[in-house]
This record gives sequence, C-alpha cells and structure tokens, in this order.
Amino acid sequence: MTLLTYLRRKLGLTGTKLGCAEGGCGACTVMLSRYQTHTQQLLHYAVNACLAPLCSLHLVAVTTVEGIGSVARKLHPVQERIARSHGSQCGFCTPGIVMSMYALLRNNATPKMADVEEAFHGNLCRCTGYRPILEGYKTFTTLMFRIFNVNCVFVSVQESPSLFNAADFAPFDPTQEIIFPPELMSLTKGQGSASLRFHGDRATWLQPASLDEFLRLKWKHPDARVVVGNTEVGIEVKFKNMVYPVILAPAFIPELNAVTHTEDGVVFGAACTLSHMGAVLRQEVETRPPHQTQVFLAVLEQLRWFAGLQIRNVAAVGGNIMTASPISDLNPVFMAAGCRLTLMDRDGSRVVRMDEGFFCGYRKTSVRPQEVLLSIEIPYSKKTQFVSAFKQSPRREDDISTVTAAMSVTFAPGTAVVEDLRLSYGGMAAVTALAGKTAARLLGRRWGEELLQDACSSLAEEMTLDPSAPGGMVTYRRTLTLSLFYKFYLTVLHKLREQAVPSDCLSAAEVYHPETPSGVQIYQVNTVVLDDVVGRPMMHLSALKQATGEAVYCDDVPLYENELYLALVTSSKAHAHILSIDSSVAEAMPGVACCVFAEDIPGSNAVGPITYDETVLADGQVTCVGHIIVTENSPTKKVLKLASILNICSQSFYQPIRTIESGDLEAGFKQADHILEGEMHIGGQEHFYLETNVTLAVPKGEDGEMELFVSTQSASKTQLLVAKVLGVPANRVVVRVKRMGGGFGGKETRTTVLSTVVAVAANKPVRCMLDRDEDMLVTGGRHPFYGKYKVGFLNSGKVVALDVSYYSNAGNSMDLSLSIVERALFHMENSYSVANVRGRGFVCRTNLPSNTAFRGFGGPQGMMVTESWMTDVAQSLGRPAEEVRRLNLYVEGESTPYNQILDQLTLDRCWDQCLQRSGYQQRRAAADLYNRQNRWTKRGLAIVPTKFGISFTAAFLNQAGALVHIYTDGSVLLTHGGTEMGQGLHTKMVQVASRVLGIPCSKIHISETSTNTVPNTSPTAASASSDLNGAAVVNACQTLLQRLAPYKTLNPKGSWEDWVKAAYFDRVNLSANGFYKTPDLGYSFDTNSGRAFNYFTYGVACSEVEIDCLTGAHKNLSTTIVMDVGHSLNPAIDIGQVEGAFMQGLGLFTLEELHYSPRGVLLTRGPGSYKIPAFGDIPTQLTVSLLRDAPNDKAIFASKAVGEPPLFLAASVFYAIKDAISAARVESGVSGPFRLDSPASAERIRTACCDRFTKLVQ
Ligand SMILES: Cc1cc2nc3c(=O)[nH]c(=O)nc-3n(C[C@H](O)[C@H](O)[C@H](O)COP(=O)(O)OP(=O)(O)OC[C@H]3O[C@@H](n4cnc5c(N)ncnc54)[C@H](O)[C@@H]3O)c2cc1C
Ligand code: FES
Ligand code: FES
Repeated sequence: MTLLTYLRRKLGLTGTKLGCAEGGCGACTVMLSRYQTHTQQLLHYAVNACLAPLCSLHLVAVTTVEGIGSVARKLHPVQERIARSHGSQCGFCTPGIVMSMYALLRNNATPKMADVEEAFHGNLCRCTGYRPILEGYKTFTTLMFRIFNVNCVFVSVQESPSLFNAADFAPFDPTQEIIFPPELMSLTKGQGSASLRFHGDRATWLQPASLDEFLRLKWKHPDARVVVGNTEVGIEVKFKNMVYPVILAPAFIPELNAVTHTEDGVVFGAACTLSHMGAVLRQEVETRPPHQTQVFLAVLEQLRWFAGLQIRNVAAVGGNIMTASPISDLNPVFMAAGCRLTLMDRDGSRVVRMDEGFFCGYRKTSVRPQEVLLSIEIPYSKKTQFVSAFKQSPRREDDISTVTAAMSVTFAPGTAVVEDLRLSYGGMAAVTALAGKTAARLLGRRWGEELLQDACSSLAEEMTLDPSAPGGMVTYRRTLTLSLFYKFYLTVLHKLREQAVPSDCLSAAEVYHPETPSGVQIYQVNTVVLDDVVGRPMMHLSALKQATGEAVYCDDVPLYENELYLALVTSSKAHAHILSIDSSVAEAMPGVACCVFAEDIPGSNAVGPITYDETVLADGQVTCVGHIIVTENSPTKKVLKLASILNICSQSFYQPIRTIESGDLEAGFKQADHILEGEMHIGGQEHFYLETNVTLAVPKGEDGEMELFVSTQSASKTQLLVAKVLGVPANRVVVRVKRMGGGFGGKETRTTVLSTVVAVAANKPVRCMLDRDEDMLVTGGRHPFYGKYKVGFLNSGKVVALDVSYYSNAGNSMDLSLSIVERALFHMENSYSVANVRGRGFVCRTNLPSNTAFRGFGGPQGMMVTESWMTDVAQSLGRPAEEVRRLNLYVEGESTPYNQILDQLTLDRCWDQCLQRSGYQQRRAAADLYNRQNRWTKRGLAIVPTKFGISFTAAFLNQAGALVHIYTDGSVLLTHGGTEMGQGLHTKMVQVASRVLGIPCSKIHISETSTNTVPNTSPTAASASSDLNGAAVVNACQTLLQRLAPYKTLNPKGSWEDWVKAAYFDRVNLSANGFYKTPDLGYSFDTNSGRAFNYFTYGVACSEVEIDCLTGAHKNLSTTIVMDVGHSLNPAIDIGQVEGAFMQGLGLFTLEELHYSPRGVLLTRGPGSYKIPAFGDIPTQLTVSLLRDAPNDKAIFASKAVGEPPLFLAASVFYAIKDAISAARVESGVSGPFRLDSPASAERIRTACCDRFTKLVQ
C-alpha cells in the first residue's frame, strides 16, 4: 500500500491529492521527517506519497497539508501566500505545491529564488500558468527580504496596484513550526535499525538491519526485488503489473548510505539518495581544485534536470544504475568517467568498472542474482581531462531523455593530442552505449577541425538506429549524437585555446541555466464606488480552503458504507467485433461483486451529447482502443481479462461537411499578384486536468431515484444521459457538482462516458475515479487538425483570396465535433479582412477515442492555419511579418466571411499597445544583431492577434438560470447554472450578486451546482458562463430587490437584515429565480446570415524566443500580451485566465505531443510520457495588460468573456520559433516559406534547422 492510499482511504486525510500515481505531477507531495542516528540530524524532505510504500515509513514522521494549518485554526504562511497571490485556481495541485514549499522552508527559512524554482521541479499546475505561485512565494526569498528592508512592497508596475499586497501577509516565523515527535526520536535512538518484516497478500517486505542480514536474505531470495526509493519498482508494479513476492528494503543500512573519500575519488553507498549525492558533490566542487571535479560537475549537470526534487529525495544512485535503463541520465556519466562499482554477496565482494561489459542487455546488468550493489566510486578528474554531460528531452524539467550523453577526453600532458576518449550515449540503443569505434579512431589525434569532421562521420556510421526503434524520432536522435559531440568539441576547444573558437560559435557551448522569471500585470481598477467589489482583484473564494486541503473534491466525499469501487475493462483493439466475453475469471477473483455488461443496462445503451451514436458499454463491436466493454464492481480495483476480438477497418467523414463562402473566390485569385499553397498539421492535446474524471453514484432506494456526485462541466447533460440509460425520467436523477479539479472542456461531455457506467453499476453506492492512464486513454482530447490552403495576395501583402479546408480528427463518435469544426471555420480568417473566402470543414471518423471540447473549441486550430499562410505571404514577399499582419487587420465596420459586422473593434488598440509595450522594434533590431553574431543559437519574434467569437454557436445553449434565496438572518444562498472548475466563476457570481443586492460578499454563499436547484443548464463552456449566469443572477437579485424596496423605503436607515426580516414578517417570498438568454443570435450555414456571436474578445501577443539550432531546445525569452476583456469583473481572475490559457496554448503549440502505436494505442498516458508546461516554461519576462477603457455593452457590467480567447496568443511563441528557424536556415542558404507543423517540438525545430550535421545522417 502506498502512503497516499493510506492517508486518503484509511485516515480520511484527503488534502493530499492523487493526480497521476507515478511521481509525475506532485499533487500528492507530503513532507517526511526522519532522525538520522549516525549523523544525529533531523532530515525533512518532500516526497511523492503515491510512490512511497507505507512499509518504508517505520520511524518516519509524515506531515500533510492538513498538519500545517487550516482555515478554521490558523493558516500557515505557505498556505496563505499562494492563495492571496492568486496562485490557486482549481486548487487540485495546490496542496502539493504548498507542501513542496513547506519542506523547502523547513530546510532553509530564507531560500533564494533558485531554491524555490528547484523545489517545484516535480510539481505541475494546469490552471495558473505558474507565475502567480512564484510571485507569491518570492515573498519568502532573500530577494523579498531585501525589498522589505528598503521598505517597499513587491509591485512590478506603477500603472496599477499589485494584484496582492505582500505587506498584508502574516509573517513567517520558522521557530513556530511543529517539532519532530519526541517519542519518535527516542524510539529511533532506542531501536536503531531493527529488522522488520511485513507480510501482505501479495508480498512480503523485509527490512534488514545490517549489511550481513541483507546479504544473507539476498542469498536466500535471489529473485527478491531490492527497493530503496521505489521510484522504479513502484512504476513497474502499478503500470506493468509486476508482482514481486519478496521485497528487500536496505535503505537504512549504514554501509549503503556511507560517503567516503579515497585517493581516487568519492565513494557513495548504493542507497545514497540523489539529493544527498548532489549535496556532497557540490561541496566537493566548492573545496577541490577545479581540474579534479570535472566528473562531479557533469554528474551535477545531469542531476539538475533529473526528475523532480520529490523523486531525487528518495531515489538512490544504486537504483538508477541497477535499473539499467537505456535512457538513464547518470549511467552515461558513470561510464564515460569509468566509475567503479563494488558488488557483494554473502561470500565476499568484487569491483567492476562501468564499461561496455556492465550493461549486457535491455535493463540487464552483469550483476549476479545473489549479489547486491554496495557502492559506486566516482573518480576525481585528471589535470588534462575534460568532461561534459548533456541531456536532451522534450521538456527541460522532469522529463525522460530523448538522447543523453557524457563525454570525457584526456590529452597527453601539455598537448592537444587525444590520449583517452570516452563517448557515452543513452537513448541510442537498448543499453547505455559507448561509441567505442569512434573513440578508437580519434586516439592520438589533435583536437581540431579535422578531428571534428572525422568524429562526426564516424559517429553517423556508428550510432545508428533501426527505423522502427522504440521511441521513434530516429533521424533526430542520430542528429543529436553529432550535435552533442560538436558542443563537446567546442567546449573543450574553448578550454584548450579560447581564441580557437570563432565568436559566433561560442553560444553553442553555453550550458543552459534558467533565469528567474519576472512578471508584470497591468489593469484598470474600479475606483467609482468604494464598497463595490466588481472590478476588484478579489481572491478566488475557495483559494484558502484549497491551500489547506479543506476544499472537498468529488473523490474526497467520505466513503459510504458498503460502497463499491468500479473498474473498467476496455478494448485493446481499435476496431473489432466482440466474439465472446468470459467473465468467469474476473468473477472468481476475491472482492469482485459482479460484472456489468451491455445487456444489464436497464434503459438505453445509445448515448452521446447530441447524436446518440455511442454506447455506454460496447455491444457487439468496439471502435477504439479504450472503448468500455465491461465494468466490474469491487471494494478494491481489480483487473479483468479481455474478451477475444477480431480486427476490421473502416474510414469515412461524418456529415455534414460545412462550408462558409463569401465574396468571389475566382475573381479574388485573378486579382492576386501572387498565389501560394501550403498545409499544416496541428497535433491534438490532452486536457490533463489535475483531477481525473470521477463519479460517485448513490441509489436512493425508491422510485428509481439516484444522486450523483460528478466532476463535470455539464450537470444537466449528465442528468439526462444517466436518466436515459437507467430508463427513468430526469426528475429522479440529481447531479451535484461542488467543484472540479480543472475541466478545460474535457469535462463537458466525456464525463458522461464514466458517469453513465457508474450509474448503471450502482445498485449500491459506487465510485470510480479514473486512473490517469485510463483517463487519457478513454476520454479523448483536443482534435488534431490538418489544414490545406491556397491564398492570393497583392504585392503590397494585402490578402485578397483564401481557399482553406480543415480536416479534424473526430475519433469514433460525433460528440461535439461538428460544432468544433464550425468554430474553426468561424475563425479561419482570425483577425484579418479577406474579401474573397471559401472555408470548408470536414469531420473525419477514425478509430480513436472520441475527441471533444478543449479550451478554444476548434478556434485555435482554425487561427493557427491562418497564421501559417500569413507567415508564408510575408516570407514569400521578403517583408516583415508584423507589417503584413498589420496591413491585413480588420478595421471597424468591416464584415466577417459569415457576414457579421465588427463594431467596438479594439484590435488596432491592442496591436499598437502590444508593439509599444513589448518594445518590438528594439527587440527586432537586437535579435537581428544577435542572429548575425551567433551561428548556432538564433532569436525570433512574432506578434500575433486574436479575435474570438463569444457565444455558443448552437443558439439554444445561450441561456442560463439562477436561484437566489435570502434567509431570515440576511444570509444569501446563491445558485446558478454554471460549475466551478477553478476559473473563478462562483467568485465572480458572488461579486455580481454583491453589487446588485448592495451587500458584502461575506453574506453570500454558493454551495454547489445541482440539477434540482437550477434545471436545464447549458454546460459551463464557450467562455460565456459569466455573461450568461451573471445576467441570470442579476435578474434574480433585481426581483428580490424590488420585493425588498418597500421595506427599504419605510426604514431607509435600517440594515439589510432589518429589511429582510420586515419583508419576511410581511409574508414576502424571499426566493427568486433568474433567467437570461442572449438576444439576437442565430446564424444559418444555409444562408450565411444571422448573428453567430454576441461579440468578440480581442487580444494581441508578442513573443521572443531563442532556439538552440543544434538540439532544437528553445527558451521563451519574453511575452507581452494586451487583452481586451472589457471592464474586468475581477482583474486577478481574468489575468489568471489569460496567463493560464496562454500557458496551455504554449503546451499545445510547442510541447505537448500525443503518440499512438500504428494499431491505434495511445502510448502517452501519463505525465512521464506526456509533457505539459512546467514552472520552467514560463517566459522569462511575462507582461499581461488588460486594455484600458474598453467597456463592452453586450455583456454583464461591461465585461467580456476571457476563458478561451487568450489560449491562441501562444501561437506568438510558435511563430517566433518559426522566425528563429528561418534565421538558422538562411545560414545554410535556404530561404522562403517552409512547413512547420504544431507543436514546434525540439525534434521539429532541429530538423528544420538543416545544416552539415543533419546532412550527415540523412
Ligand atoms: C517521475 C520520475 C522521474 C524520473 N526521472 C528520471 C530522470 O530524469 N532520469 C533518470 O535517469 N531516471 C529517472 N527516473 C527513474 C528513477 O527515478 C531512477 O532510476 C532512480 O534512481 C531509481 O532509484 P530508486 O531508489 O527509486 O530505485 P528502486 O525503484 O527502489 O529500485 C530500482 C531497481 O534497482 C535495484 N536496486 C536498487 N538498489 C540496489 C542495490 N543496492 N543492489 C542491487 N539492486 C538494487 C532494484 O532491485 C530495482 O530493480 C524517474 C522516475 C520517476 C518515477
Ligand atoms: S499523484 Fe503522486 S506525483 Fe502525481
Ligand atoms: S490550480 Fe493548479 S491545477 Fe488547477
């Protein structure tokens, strides 16, 4: 059992969250404290509770988020500061982030900003964009102390007040922390290291007290698994279904933790954690002469990017070596340095060198079954030795290497002649590999250009990969072997003879060290009425509870008596007939209550949000890997064997194919001076809400009633579909949504995939929270798009004709795909006026899980293609892209291709302010100069606009309801149709009600969203929820105000409570519902007429990046966003939405990649393989400015919708990368338009930067 399961299920401590169960998200972070007898030191360290075996925690104190503070008792400053700095939106990541920070402060009460950044390497947040978290926690750092000392508050900009006031924070007093339990201390001192034995159903855990005992046990159980940090074995057990009947846990054996110094180097016991090893090596680097510490520096460089801190705090160096992973980051260094390992068994020890012979196959070593690894000696380097290590991975922080390498060269004294050379690569074979042939060829050669050329040709020959090699990216990986060697070559050359390296090549040898990001937020404050909270940067109303772990999410609801857990059995084939299902094995398993099949569905098995083209449980056929076939009810999760299945294929489009046409396309192309054609592929995206899908269904036992707690954006849709499958009227089903741990569109319709099966299985209370891998497999994501275009333009750059086709990958059911491709078409011209247009949208049926809504809903894909042809136009004319974009921008009064006239257009204002705030022209000049001076790193810039239509394009959805009760004590219970997923909707609705009723927010409460309070709600989607629900809330509040008016008139000096009481005693109804529908909507594709949108939200972003042409890595240097959100209801929340959406877009366009096997199996099913942006991906300078004086007369209190529109602005980063690649291509004599698909991954960037190295591997 893991610590996380124990905390959540046995102790009911649900503050610690489950986000992935694989150590990749940090949601489960807790602090462990241990008294180390041999050093007499107390250790505090953050760990992932999801990987920590409970058995490993003997004599260890565990501190969870509940233990450090609470809203009811007293908040801890780490809890208060993240909340008040607006660093908690959905809050699901927050307890983990709080605990990472807390553990840091327990070790270092005044950390540097770099320490804070390091502490968060293992934490992910999908909502905030990270900036506010860092800003809040900057207040604990030495930087902040300096600022406090000179008596000023952290405000980056003078134009508007800071979004929070650090001076209001409770001071942090490290002396007041809870102490290590004294009884545990005496127990530790008394027991020392006692032998322990835990015996369970599946495994026996043996913790030996001494090395002798360990060796004896290993002799007796040669097949026993040694476990230290469990970061490898934990994954094998959870995800590869490995069973290890005997586990040996030697983590506390002194010899395995010892660090000793020999004449040749430092010896680390195999159980030394990576954090400890790092600390010792840093100390060595500080105290020894530099020539001795080259290997240590290389190890430290690898450790910098090795997993997150929570993993490094427990993972052992021996675990890394013995796992023998071909992509281990440390083994290449150990091999290049020729480290020596001491192996031991009962009969004695032997020393082996880490060389070609040590790793003898995929995850195999030459260590014998009865042997254990005792220690590793890392040698001092010699005077004439140079060592470097490199890690190239899609994301810098906490990612698996694509290629990892370490290189060591020793020269004959006083010369540049190679005496010894070791080039070690990970990711290029089934084992960590030495490029032995190349090294041998270069012995005795002088370090110079000739050697470089021969080395590259030789490496290209030696480091080959089969085209079908696991991990793919074959050409890229081969190129990297050369690129990394070139970096090493330059680094060494520079150390040998500084002037030998041309100045334009120097940046290629620089080691990447992140800079602390800084942020600027500019907004207009509502200063009209002091008591009015609308327009003020009010904190998210649940933020404090989220930071303390008190906020209740669906899976935090306490277990019901007799509650069963539901497990899914899904198809492993993409398209097949079900020939038979044999459930006997499953039903015979202990704990399994029953299996549920399609024929057990009491109502209809045909479901779907719009078209009923899906099944709750597969019936006769499966149409994707992940299609749910059977469910299983048990008190614990169990795995069921799958039925036999036959493969068949099919392919087609869903109907209708949509077209929007305006102007005269033929005439447009005739008028054009130039015509160009192009295409682009935009990859899909996983929502990666930190809280996976979860449903708890509770049958009520009479009249077919059922209550469901669901993490869904669509309470009403869930209610209707559950009623349909149960065969009961909707009035028997109540769906309740307290809050979600993120939604982003992924919980709009696909939640019903789970909630319907849970409902069907629920004869008793039944719960299911999908594992991360199940969630990613089953619930689909953003539609991948393919866009093809032909564009006609004048010599001036003015675009006059556009013919574009979009093909979206819908998956195995229609879901919302038609509306999504429609929105892509509505955004096909983005912000540009094009007189003659034809856009067509095709929805492709494929055997993948149905794709669905995702922030932007097809709009970003539509606009991404627009910006591709816009870039092509500029490049083919040789004109600056920003000039061509500006020339084509819409002006007030122009009409869209779907005949909507644009009024209150603020695009030009956003554009001009963004140009000016970003210092675009100066940046451009500086980047051009930089590019002239640097061959292997290039900078690029792009400024990109967005115009995002606000309304559901299905007109009937543009309605909302609210229900407001005033109780006789004056307190107000507010309910509306929208759900809270972190976007701050409930906070904004309370602000709205507060303004209308004229009472403070503290008197107003929102408990939840439920179908029995506000019926027939539209999903919380399309960015329109504040507009729609806000107007409904106003409507209800105004009704109540009218009813109270006579009592106010009678008693003008009275209080709110007086008027409420008076009305009550006068028998006035103090409950009112409100309703709103957006007027004048109704677009028709048949006639290309009618208003599609209520209004548009505009924004412009300018980004600058720097790419490493040799590896494809890039740095986000700066982004400036100017966003028109009208009169913001809450600038803190809106800026949070802008930054969060921008970072999600950054993931979409530069990082996140879904990989499938050729047979349709999703391979990227967790944070280990699917990378969302992390803390380190924030642009170093991020400025967000809300456009001033831009009231919007079409939405609540002159505000504008904000949830989705800013996402597309991350395209500025993509096109800045493309700009930088263009500069690199010029160096190789290539110019003009070129195709770059999204995301602009390191692989794509490297491949597009064609040069002498790419040629060698082609
Ligand atoms: C989220 C995450 C991120 C990661 N990131 C990286 C990364 O960036 N780079 C990287 O290289 N790896 C990474 N890893 C892999 C892993 O963390 C390392 O391999 C780690 O060093 C393993 O150490 P451990 O103590 O947890 O091993 P365990 O899981 O406890 O054991 C691993 C293996 O080593 C054997 N073993 C351990 N000690 C001994 C011994 N003394 N004698 C004999 N056999 C022994 C065990 O039997 C087992 O087979 C990551 C893992 C996770 C979960
Ligand atoms: S749940 Fe433990 S790291 Fe994600
Ligand atoms: S607030 Fe971080 S994941 Fe939602």
